[in-house]
Amino acid sequence: MKNILVIGATGQIGSELTIELRKRYGNENVVAGYIKGAEPKSELRESGPCEIVDVTDAQMIENVVKLYKIDTIYNLAALLSVVAESKPLLAWKIGIDGLWNVLEVARQHNCAVFTPSSIGSFGQDTPHVNTPQDTIQRPRTMYGISKVTTELLSDYYYNKYGVDTRSVRFPGIISNVTPPGGGTTDYAVDIYYSAVKGEKFVCPIGAGTFMDMMYMPDALDAAINLMEADPAKLVHRNAFNIAAMSFDPEMIYQSICKYIPDFKMEYDVDPLKQSIANSWPDSLDDTCARNEWGWNPKFDLDSMTKDMLEKLRIKLK
Ligand code: SER
Repeated sequence: MKNILVIGATGQIGSELTIELRKRYGNENVVAGYIKGAEPKSELRESGPCEIVDVTDAQMIENVVKLYKIDTIYNLAALLSVVAESKPLLAWKIGIDGLWNVLEVARQHNCAVFTPSSIGSFGQDTPHVNTPQDTIQRPRTMYGISKVTTELLSDYYYNKYGVDTRSVRFPGIISNVTPPGGGTTDYAVDIYYSAVKGEKFVCPIGAGTFMDMMYMPDALDAAINLMEADPAKLVHRNAFNIAAMSFDPEMIYQSICKYIPDFKMEYDVDPLKQSIANSWPDSLDDTCARNEWGWNPKFDLDSMTKDMLEKLRIKLK
Protein backbone atom coordinates (compact mmCIF):
# COMPACT_ATOMS: atom_id res chain seq x y z
CA MET A 1 0.00 0.00 0.00
CA LYS A 2 1.64 3.22 -1.15
CA ASN A 3 -1.16 5.43 -2.46
CA ILE A 4 -4.52 4.82 -0.86
CA LEU A 5 -8.04 6.05 -1.61
CA VAL A 6 -10.70 5.79 1.09
CA ILE A 7 -14.21 6.03 -0.37
CA GLY A 8 -16.68 7.02 2.34
CA ALA A 9 -13.91 8.73 4.33
CA THR A 10 -16.28 10.84 6.43
CA GLY A 11 -18.41 7.90 7.61
CA GLN A 12 -18.29 5.94 10.85
CA ILE A 13 -15.29 3.78 9.92
CA GLY A 14 -13.77 6.00 7.22
CA SER A 15 -13.24 9.03 9.44
CA GLU A 16 -10.94 7.06 11.74
CA LEU A 17 -9.46 4.68 9.16
CA THR A 18 -8.29 7.59 6.98
CA ILE A 19 -6.46 9.23 9.88
CA GLU A 20 -4.89 5.92 10.93
CA LEU A 21 -3.76 5.19 7.36
CA ARG A 22 -2.25 8.67 7.11
CA LYS A 23 -0.30 8.03 10.34
CA ARG A 24 1.07 4.78 8.97
CA TYR A 25 1.61 5.59 5.27
CA GLY A 26 2.09 9.36 5.22
CA ASN A 27 -0.49 12.15 5.09
CA GLU A 28 -0.03 12.93 1.41
CA ASN A 29 -0.48 9.29 0.38
CA VAL A 30 -4.03 8.79 1.66
CA VAL A 31 -6.89 10.48 -0.18
CA ALA A 32 -10.13 11.06 1.73
CA GLY A 33 -12.99 10.46 -0.75
CA TYR A 34 -16.30 12.01 0.32
CA ILE A 35 -19.65 12.97 -1.16
CA LYS A 36 -21.31 16.38 -1.25
CA GLY A 37 -23.14 16.98 2.00
CA ALA A 38 -20.64 14.88 3.97
CA GLU A 39 -17.59 17.13 3.71
CA PRO A 40 -14.52 16.33 5.82
CA LYS A 41 -13.96 18.51 8.86
CA SER A 42 -11.01 19.60 11.03
CA GLU A 43 -8.23 16.98 11.26
CA LEU A 44 -9.49 14.90 8.32
CA ARG A 45 -9.68 17.94 6.04
CA GLU A 46 -6.40 19.46 7.14
CA SER A 47 -4.16 16.40 7.38
CA GLY A 48 -4.11 15.29 3.73
CA PRO A 49 -5.74 15.32 0.28
CA CYS A 50 -9.53 15.24 0.03
CA GLU A 51 -11.55 14.66 -3.15
CA ILE A 52 -15.22 14.27 -3.99
CA VAL A 53 -15.67 10.60 -4.91
CA ASP A 54 -19.22 9.37 -5.40
CA VAL A 55 -19.10 5.57 -5.56
CA THR A 56 -22.00 5.56 -8.02
CA ASP A 57 -19.89 7.52 -10.54
CA ALA A 58 -17.17 5.31 -12.10
CA GLN A 59 -15.54 8.19 -13.94
CA MET A 60 -15.11 10.14 -10.75
CA ILE A 61 -13.41 7.16 -9.09
CA GLU A 62 -11.14 6.62 -12.08
CA ASN A 63 -10.10 10.30 -12.23
CA VAL A 64 -8.94 10.25 -8.61
CA VAL A 65 -7.22 6.87 -8.99
CA LYS A 66 -5.28 8.18 -11.99
CA LEU A 67 -4.48 11.57 -10.45
CA TYR A 68 -3.01 10.11 -7.25
CA LYS A 69 -1.66 6.85 -8.76
CA ILE A 70 -3.79 4.91 -6.29
CA ASP A 71 -2.86 1.25 -5.67
CA THR A 72 -5.28 0.42 -2.82
CA ILE A 73 -8.95 1.35 -2.42
CA TYR A 74 -10.87 1.09 0.85
CA ASN A 75 -14.46 1.10 -0.36
CA LEU A 76 -16.54 1.99 2.71
CA ALA A 77 -19.60 3.53 1.03
CA ALA A 78 -22.73 1.78 2.32
CA LEU A 79 -26.02 2.22 4.15
CA LEU A 80 -26.36 0.46 7.52
CA SER A 81 -28.96 -2.24 8.11
CA VAL A 82 -31.98 -0.30 9.39
CA VAL A 83 -31.65 2.51 6.81
CA ALA A 84 -31.17 -0.05 4.06
CA GLU A 85 -34.52 -1.63 4.97
CA SER A 86 -36.25 1.71 4.38
CA LYS A 87 -34.27 2.46 1.17
CA PRO A 88 -33.50 -0.94 -0.40
CA LEU A 89 -32.94 0.39 -3.93
CA LEU A 90 -30.49 3.00 -2.72
CA ALA A 91 -28.72 0.42 -0.57
CA TRP A 92 -28.20 -1.73 -3.67
CA LYS A 93 -27.17 1.23 -5.82
CA ILE A 94 -24.47 2.32 -3.37
CA GLY A 95 -23.45 -1.13 -2.16
CA ILE A 96 -23.46 -3.14 -5.39
CA ASP A 97 -23.61 -0.80 -8.39
CA GLY A 98 -20.98 1.21 -6.54
CA LEU A 99 -18.89 -1.89 -5.93
CA TRP A 100 -18.97 -2.76 -9.67
CA ASN A 101 -17.58 0.70 -10.37
CA VAL A 102 -14.80 0.29 -7.82
CA LEU A 103 -13.89 -3.21 -9.01
CA GLU A 104 -13.81 -2.17 -12.69
CA VAL A 105 -11.53 0.78 -11.94
CA ALA A 106 -9.39 -1.52 -9.77
CA ARG A 107 -9.15 -4.08 -12.59
CA GLN A 108 -8.07 -1.45 -15.09
CA HIS A 109 -5.59 0.31 -12.79
CA ASN A 110 -4.30 -2.65 -10.82
CA CYS A 111 -5.59 -1.64 -7.38
CA ALA A 112 -6.19 -3.84 -4.34
CA VAL A 113 -9.70 -3.42 -2.89
CA PHE A 114 -11.12 -3.75 0.62
CA THR A 115 -14.93 -3.66 0.84
CA PRO A 116 -16.37 -4.61 4.24
CA SER A 117 -18.87 -7.37 4.74
CA SER A 118 -20.74 -7.78 8.02
CA ILE A 119 -22.36 -10.08 10.57
CA GLY A 120 -25.44 -8.92 8.62
CA SER A 121 -24.40 -11.22 5.77
CA PHE A 122 -25.76 -14.11 7.85
CA GLY A 123 -29.41 -15.04 8.27
CA GLN A 124 -31.96 -16.98 10.27
CA ASP A 125 -30.74 -20.38 9.02
CA THR A 126 -27.08 -19.70 9.88
CA PRO A 127 -25.77 -21.57 12.96
CA HIS A 128 -25.98 -18.76 15.52
CA VAL A 129 -23.33 -19.76 18.07
CA ASN A 130 -19.69 -19.86 17.03
CA THR A 131 -20.79 -19.29 13.44
CA PRO A 132 -18.28 -21.03 11.13
CA GLN A 133 -16.32 -19.17 8.45
CA ASP A 134 -17.93 -21.15 5.65
CA THR A 135 -21.60 -21.79 6.31
CA ILE A 136 -25.12 -21.05 5.10
CA GLN A 137 -25.78 -17.28 4.86
CA ARG A 138 -29.18 -16.58 3.19
CA PRO A 139 -29.93 -13.18 4.84
CA ARG A 140 -33.36 -11.62 4.28
CA THR A 141 -32.48 -7.95 4.83
CA MET A 142 -31.34 -5.79 1.91
CA TYR A 143 -28.24 -4.95 3.95
CA GLY A 144 -27.40 -8.65 4.23
CA ILE A 145 -28.24 -9.40 0.61
CA SER A 146 -25.93 -6.60 -0.51
CA LYS A 147 -23.17 -7.86 1.81
CA VAL A 148 -23.36 -11.45 0.50
CA THR A 149 -23.29 -10.04 -3.03
CA THR A 150 -20.28 -7.92 -2.05
CA GLU A 151 -18.47 -11.06 -0.94
CA LEU A 152 -19.35 -12.98 -4.11
CA LEU A 153 -18.57 -10.14 -6.52
CA SER A 154 -15.27 -9.43 -4.80
CA ASP A 155 -14.30 -13.11 -5.04
CA TYR A 156 -15.40 -13.10 -8.69
CA TYR A 157 -13.02 -10.27 -9.53
CA TYR A 158 -10.21 -12.04 -7.70
CA ASN A 159 -10.81 -15.41 -9.38
CA LYS A 160 -11.57 -14.12 -12.86
CA TYR A 161 -9.29 -11.09 -13.16
CA GLY A 162 -6.80 -11.45 -10.32
CA VAL A 163 -7.93 -8.23 -8.61
CA ASP A 164 -6.53 -8.35 -5.05
CA THR A 165 -9.83 -8.15 -3.17
CA ARG A 166 -9.94 -8.83 0.59
CA SER A 167 -12.61 -8.32 3.24
CA VAL A 168 -13.78 -8.96 6.77
CA ARG A 169 -17.25 -9.45 8.22
CA PHE A 170 -17.35 -6.55 10.66
CA PRO A 171 -19.45 -6.93 13.80
CA GLY A 172 -21.08 -3.91 15.44
CA ILE A 173 -18.35 -1.30 15.71
CA ILE A 174 -18.14 0.94 18.76
CA SER A 175 -16.30 4.23 18.69
CA ASN A 176 -16.25 7.64 20.35
CA VAL A 177 -15.52 9.66 17.20
CA THR A 178 -18.13 9.52 14.40
CA PRO A 179 -21.44 7.97 15.49
CA PRO A 180 -22.98 5.27 13.27
CA GLY A 181 -26.32 6.05 11.65
CA GLY A 182 -29.15 3.59 11.23
CA GLY A 183 -27.53 0.31 12.26
CA THR A 184 -28.94 -2.50 14.38
CA THR A 185 -25.89 -2.47 16.65
CA ASP A 186 -25.95 1.33 17.22
CA TYR A 187 -27.42 0.86 20.70
CA ALA A 188 -24.00 -0.30 21.90
CA VAL A 189 -22.60 3.14 21.00
CA ASP A 190 -25.62 5.20 22.11
CA ILE A 191 -25.60 3.62 25.57
CA TYR A 192 -22.18 5.13 26.35
CA TYR A 193 -23.32 8.62 25.32
CA SER A 194 -26.34 8.33 27.65
CA ALA A 195 -24.16 7.08 30.49
CA VAL A 196 -21.69 9.97 30.20
CA LYS A 197 -24.47 12.57 29.83
CA GLY A 198 -26.08 11.22 33.02
CA GLU A 199 -29.24 10.22 31.16
CA LYS A 200 -31.32 7.05 31.42
CA PHE A 201 -30.77 4.81 28.38
CA VAL A 202 -33.78 3.40 26.55
CA CYS A 203 -32.59 0.23 24.86
CA PRO A 204 -34.20 -0.74 21.52
CA ILE A 205 -32.77 -4.29 21.62
CA GLY A 206 -34.13 -6.85 24.09
CA ALA A 207 -32.22 -8.43 26.98
CA GLY A 208 -30.67 -11.75 25.99
CA THR A 209 -30.01 -10.65 22.39
CA PHE A 210 -26.35 -11.39 21.75
CA MET A 211 -24.37 -9.87 18.87
CA ASP A 212 -20.68 -9.64 18.07
CA MET A 213 -19.15 -6.22 18.71
CA MET A 214 -15.71 -4.65 18.35
CA TYR A 215 -13.92 -1.52 19.51
CA MET A 216 -12.80 0.75 16.67
CA PRO A 217 -9.00 0.39 17.20
CA ASP A 218 -9.34 -3.35 16.59
CA ALA A 219 -11.56 -2.77 13.54
CA LEU A 220 -8.92 -0.46 12.05
CA ASP A 221 -6.19 -3.01 12.71
CA ALA A 222 -8.31 -5.68 11.00
CA ALA A 223 -8.79 -3.60 7.85
CA ILE A 224 -5.12 -2.61 7.62
CA ASN A 225 -3.51 -5.89 8.70
CA LEU A 226 -5.59 -7.92 6.27
CA MET A 227 -4.55 -5.68 3.37
CA GLU A 228 -0.91 -6.04 4.49
CA ALA A 229 -1.13 -9.83 4.88
CA ASP A 230 1.00 -12.19 2.81
CA PRO A 231 -1.34 -13.29 -0.01
CA ALA A 232 0.30 -16.72 -0.11
CA LYS A 233 -1.19 -17.45 3.34
CA LEU A 234 -4.76 -16.44 2.44
CA VAL A 235 -7.04 -19.41 1.84
CA HIS A 236 -10.11 -17.18 2.15
CA ARG A 237 -10.56 -13.65 0.85
CA ASN A 238 -14.13 -12.33 0.90
CA ALA A 239 -14.85 -12.23 3.71
CA PHE A 240 -13.21 -13.29 6.98
CA ASN A 241 -15.18 -13.75 10.19
CA ILE A 242 -13.56 -11.56 12.85
CA ALA A 243 -14.64 -11.40 16.48
CA ALA A 244 -13.60 -9.55 19.62
CA MET A 245 -16.53 -9.76 22.05
CA SER A 246 -20.15 -10.88 22.13
CA PHE A 247 -22.65 -9.40 24.58
CA ASP A 248 -26.30 -8.61 25.16
CA PRO A 249 -27.66 -5.27 26.48
CA GLU A 250 -27.52 -6.47 30.10
CA MET A 251 -23.82 -7.20 29.87
CA ILE A 252 -22.85 -3.83 28.42
CA TYR A 253 -25.09 -2.14 30.97
CA GLN A 254 -23.37 -4.01 33.83
CA SER A 255 -19.98 -3.14 32.40
CA ILE A 256 -20.86 0.59 32.44
CA CYS A 257 -22.31 0.30 35.97
CA LYS A 258 -18.85 -0.72 37.24
CA TYR A 259 -17.81 2.88 36.51
CA ILE A 260 -21.17 4.69 36.83
CA PRO A 261 -23.10 2.75 39.51
CA ASP A 262 -26.28 4.87 39.34
CA PHE A 263 -26.67 4.53 35.54
CA LYS A 264 -30.21 3.46 34.59
CA MET A 265 -31.49 1.52 31.57
CA GLU A 266 -34.97 0.46 30.49
CA TYR A 267 -36.22 -1.37 27.41
CA ASP A 268 -38.44 -0.17 24.57
CA VAL A 269 -37.79 -2.81 21.95
CA ASP A 270 -37.88 -1.68 18.31
CA PRO A 271 -39.52 -4.51 16.33
CA LEU A 272 -37.48 -3.97 13.13
CA LYS A 273 -34.13 -3.75 14.92
CA GLN A 274 -35.03 -6.74 17.09
CA SER A 275 -36.01 -8.90 14.12
CA ILE A 276 -32.78 -8.01 12.34
CA ALA A 277 -30.75 -8.75 15.49
CA ASN A 278 -32.53 -12.08 15.93
CA SER A 279 -31.49 -13.14 12.44
CA TRP A 280 -27.79 -12.40 13.06
CA PRO A 281 -25.29 -14.69 14.79
CA ASP A 282 -24.68 -14.50 18.55
CA SER A 283 -20.95 -15.05 18.08
CA LEU A 284 -18.59 -15.75 15.17
CA ASP A 285 -15.77 -18.29 14.94
CA ASP A 286 -12.77 -16.27 13.74
CA THR A 287 -10.20 -19.11 13.62
CA CYS A 288 -9.50 -18.65 9.90
CA ALA A 289 -8.65 -14.95 10.35
CA ARG A 290 -6.37 -15.81 13.27
CA ASN A 291 -4.59 -18.56 11.34
CA GLU A 292 -4.38 -16.99 7.88
CA TRP A 293 -3.32 -13.43 8.76
CA GLY A 294 -2.79 -13.24 12.50
CA TRP A 295 -6.03 -11.54 13.60
CA ASN A 296 -5.75 -10.84 17.32
CA PRO A 297 -8.02 -8.16 18.88
CA LYS A 298 -6.85 -6.18 21.90
CA PHE A 299 -10.07 -4.96 23.52
CA ASP A 300 -12.69 -6.90 25.47
CA LEU A 301 -15.94 -5.45 26.86
CA ASP A 302 -14.51 -4.03 30.10
CA SER A 303 -11.35 -2.52 28.59
CA MET A 304 -13.49 -0.98 25.84
CA THR A 305 -15.95 0.44 28.40
CA LYS A 306 -13.12 2.04 30.40
CA ASP A 307 -11.66 3.68 27.29
CA MET A 308 -15.04 4.76 25.85
CA LEU A 309 -16.07 6.45 29.10
CA GLU A 310 -12.72 8.23 29.45
CA LYS A 311 -12.77 9.51 25.86
CA LEU A 312 -16.45 10.52 25.89
CA ARG A 313 -16.04 12.41 29.17
CA ILE A 314 -13.42 14.57 27.47
CA LYS A 315 -15.43 14.89 24.23
CA LEU A 316 -18.72 15.82 25.89
CA LYS A 317 -17.25 18.19 28.49
N1 SER B 1 -23.29 -2.25 12.44
C1 SER B 1 -24.02 -2.81 11.33
C2 SER B 1 -25.46 -2.53 11.48
O1 SER B 1 -25.94 -2.60 12.58
C3 SER B 1 -23.78 -4.27 11.22
O2 SER B 1 -22.60 -4.55 10.57
O3 SER B 1 -26.13 -2.31 10.52
